[in-house]
Amino acid sequence: MRSVLLAAGFLALTSALQCDIQNAIERIDCLPERNSNEQRCHERGCCWKTRQDGDPHVNFPYCFYPRDYSGYVISNQTQDRHGATVYLQRQQPSHSAQDIGVLRVEVRSYSNQIVRIRIVDPHNQRWEPPYPAIPPPSSRIDSPIFDFEITQDSRLEVRRFDGDQGDNHKVKLVSLNLGTMIYTDRFIQVTSLLPSNVVYGLGEHHGSLRRSMDYSRFTFYNEDQPPVENKRLYGTQPFYINLESDGRANGMWLLNSNAMDILLQPAPAITYRPTGGVLDFFIFAGPSPADVVKQYQDIVGRPKMIPYWSLGFHLCRYGYKSTEDTRRTLQRNLDAGVRIDVQWNDIDYMDKFNGFTLDPENYSDLGKLADELHKDGRHYVMIVDPAVSGSETPGSYPPYDRGLEQNVFVKTAKGRIVEGRVWNLGTSVFPDFTHPNATIYWTELFRDFHKRVAYDGAWIDMNEPSNGIDGHNDDNSCRSDQDMPYVPGDVYLHKRTICTSDVHHLSSHYNVHNLYAYAEAISTYKALTAVAPNKRPFIISRSTFSGQGFYSGHWTGDIYSNWGNLKDSISGILDFSFYGIPMVGADICGFLQDTTTELCARWQALGAFYPFSRNHNNIQAKDQDPAALGETVLKPTRNAFYWRYKLLPYLYTLFYGAHMDGETVARPLFFEYPEDPKTYDNDRQFMWGRALMVVPALFENQKIITGYFPKGIWYDLQNRTGTVDATSGGKYVDLPADMDYIHFFMKGGNAVFFQEPGNTTTDSRKSPFGLYVFLDDGVASGRVFLDDGESIDSITSGEFDVVHAMATKDILVVSNRSQMKSFYNLDEVHVYGIKSQPKEIFIDRAEFIDFVYDEQRQLLTMNNLNHDMTLMTVSFVY
Ligand SMILES: *[C@@H]1O[C@H](CO)[C@@H](O)[C@H](O)[C@H]1NC(C)=O
Ligand SMILES: *[C@@H]1O[C@H](CO)[C@@H](O)[C@H](O)[C@H]1NC(C)=O
Ligand SMILES: *[C@@H]1O[C@H](CO)[C@@H](O)[C@H](O)[C@H]1NC(C)=O
Ligand SMILES: *[C@@H]1O[C@H](CO)[C@@H](O)[C@H](O)[C@H]1NC(C)=O
Ligand SMILES: *[C@@H]1O[C@H](CO)[C@@H](O)[C@H](O)[C@H]1NC(C)=O
Ligand SMILES: *[C@@H]1O[C@H](CO)[C@@H](O)[C@H](O)[C@H]1NC(C)=O
Repeated sequence: MRSVLLAAGFLALTSALQCDIQNAIERIDCLPERNSNEQRCHERGCCWKTRQDGDPHVNFPYCFYPRDYSGYVISNQTQDRHGATVYLQRQQPSHSAQDIGVLRVEVRSYSNQIVRIRIVDPHNQRWEPPYPAIPPPSSRIDSPIFDFEITQDSRLEVRRFDGDQGDNHKVKLVSLNLGTMIYTDRFIQVTSLLPSNVVYGLGEHHGSLRRSMDYSRFTFYNEDQPPVENKRLYGTQPFYINLESDGRANGMWLLNSNAMDILLQPAPAITYRPTGGVLDFFIFAGPSPADVVKQYQDIVGRPKMIPYWSLGFHLCRYGYKSTEDTRRTLQRNLDAGVRIDVQWNDIDYMDKFNGFTLDPENYSDLGKLADELHKDGRHYVMIVDPAVSGSETPGSYPPYDRGLEQNVFVKTAKGRIVEGRVWNLGTSVFPDFTHPNATIYWTELFRDFHKRVAYDGAWIDMNEPSNGIDGHNDDNSCRSDQDMPYVPGDVYLHKRTICTSDVHHLSSHYNVHNLYAYAEAISTYKALTAVAPNKRPFIISRSTFSGQGFYSGHWTGDIYSNWGNLKDSISGILDFSFYGIPMVGADICGFLQDTTTELCARWQALGAFYPFSRNHNNIQAKDQDPAALGETVLKPTRNAFYWRYKLLPYLYTLFYGAHMDGETVARPLFFEYPEDPKTYDNDRQFMWGRALMVVPALFENQKIITGYFPKGIWYDLQNRTGTVDATSGGKYVDLPADMDYIHFFMKGGNAVFFQEPGNTTTDSRKSPFGLYVFLDDGVASGRVFLDDGESIDSITSGEFDVVHAMATKDILVVSNRSQMKSFYNLDEVHVYGIKSQPKEIFIDRAEFIDFVYDEQRQLLTMNNLNHDMTLMTVSFVY
């Protein structure tokens, strides 16, 4: 009774003094669980205020923390050169669940730009994900660009010095509110203020690239769900990039594999609600968006090098009837002049949809198709699902028999093998890729299958893991959310997957669910390396976790064949470039439902600029390979892919930059122009590196494309509409939305190497090189990465060359300076932006006369150079 009275007295005080948070957008939710009501709110010592007439926002919390709420208070702290350790003590109960009474906050500088904040239970080891492997802190932290402080009101702030704005100018990148934090076994909540309301990332979620701050909620628990807005999807990437008012950027990543919600509110603020694990934040101080992404990849790992052939065009569908049907479809496209490097198969090839088998009637000769593809310089990839059949006659199906012997299947809490239902006709069982035998098991299956079909890569699907039934086949004991104080997204966790109580070698499914695909990607990577030693594995995965770009690429899943999904494919791809997963694409012409000729024509043209470029279709949908739809689709396909193939040396070099330095490949405009606010919401255009901008048509019946051209000069390589001169400032330009081609422009200041395309990348690589120089104010530079395109160790063993080109209007130098590992022929050079015709041109001091100057285009062309790529000097005399 006494305590109740005390609580009531406390309440009177709070409502009188501390509930007066003027701006509703700053309120932090004190009752995030279901069934919020005034009485429960007051029990928590919080303020209750419903929506008033005229409140512009709808979704703010009615129950919120009073200003000086002290859930956790600081009991002591110690600081040293590298950081601080702070102990927190719970003062009053959260009433959410059993609070963890004492917490330890560990703040640690990780590099000059990165700081890590961990909030853990000092008395109990809690779950922490083993991947991605986190490197130790940098040993040289000599000039950090940030500091941190724990304020009187229990905020943990990380601030960046912006020296050029005066010595004392600091930007609060993060301001974690420790006083209002909830920390229980299965529910944690913490809120941080953001420097601005321009936020990207927090994937995998569908919609615009820039995230809404209007109390938007992002739910993370990997699910086999066709991409639509406001739903949990295939992957978990709890990393954001925040763009500040002056174009500087910062970012934060939460290393936590449990189901969670992340909320954005207009304060601007971000709230994390994981349902387990610990809080383990990495803060990246930038200051450019590209820096933030590099710093993020310093922690989670940079992508491994991809094979060159994987940059060609890929053709796939679900619903090829046989090997012969697959072959026929491929051939009709080749006959129509479509460049194709890789043929794929979906689950049709399997016997009764069982992994690692061949349909004996229609696909027994699949191996022959793979061999033919290889003979023509092409490649072959097929789908692999993790779950294997659990209902075959013992001794007849090694994937099940060997899995039993090696004990690798996921178990129920009672120790039985989990039986679900994926594609298999009976039951499906799930390899546990955290099990010590899993990679041996998986490698054996891959190796045996490779003897039948010499595939070149693996398409790993259904790895959320997806399950056609909710939970188990044989019982309904799955009550995943029953004892959870808070259910992320209000969706029960065993929806379309296995039960949270299921058991992996490493931990419960509750903890490792979001890591399933990451673990599978590791085993698959190792299996492919065993099958083809010293060849770079090529893996495309549907489900992902942070850092998975180290092992695999991604495609954006089962999207719809409609105009909205065509447009949103751009944000889907750019989003993954933030996460260090640059090898990403969307199904060209859409997957679910029938495409139309016009939609597919636009999509083939746009898809030629996806880093991973594949046309893929569903079994119920009508044919959408370019040849099936006629010239309307074929013309833009031939045009766009001509340019893709021609510029592959440039695209491949961008992947080298991603691998070595964590650069992005496809990137949004704001990465190159962070000080130009007109780029912040632009997800209808994108760039390849810094040199190429794609300006696609994205709407039905579109006649005009209003493209935005940031400051600079933009050359029209295709000679369609001419140069766009935006040197005096960014501007909008209307372009004709011709059906036969896609617009792209080359940014002045860049030098881009190319090769005249053959039928395949294998052919193209035999062509001599050419060089485009795009002068901006008389200068340009660029580089090309050269190697055999497939060895896993070409970089570590030094078997590669990087050739640089540097140009002014007077001189062009193509150089490696050191000895080249291989011979490369440079045969043509095109210089854009030369304002008058040179009188003479010298190459290495010898006069060169075979050049053409086009005054209208200010384009100088030199052919038949036949010069090797080591040191070439070209002088222009006016
Ligand atoms: C700080 O507080 C924690 C928890 O109350 C305690 O375990 C620890 O010994 C204290 N450390 C110091 C330096 O007082
Ligand atoms: C092989 O293809 C034929 C024709 O599409 C189909 O009727 C038959 O069921 C297929 N066989 C198997 C084993 O799927
Ligand atoms: C791994 O597989 C072997 C059989 O190949 C089995 O004896 C062993 O128990 C398995 N290891 C574990 C941890 O289950
Ligand atoms: C570029 O376009 C212009 C105008 O259509 C045309 O006159 C010129 O011949 C074209 N140049 C090239 C190199 O195709
Ligand atoms: C490229 O394809 C065309 C058309 O199929 C064929 O005629 C030509 O021989 C091929 N070129 C090479 C180098 O294989
Ligand atoms: C020349 O190529 C080597 C590798 O073969 C590379 O290490 C070096 O940086 C390159 N030098 C220049 C100036 O491009």
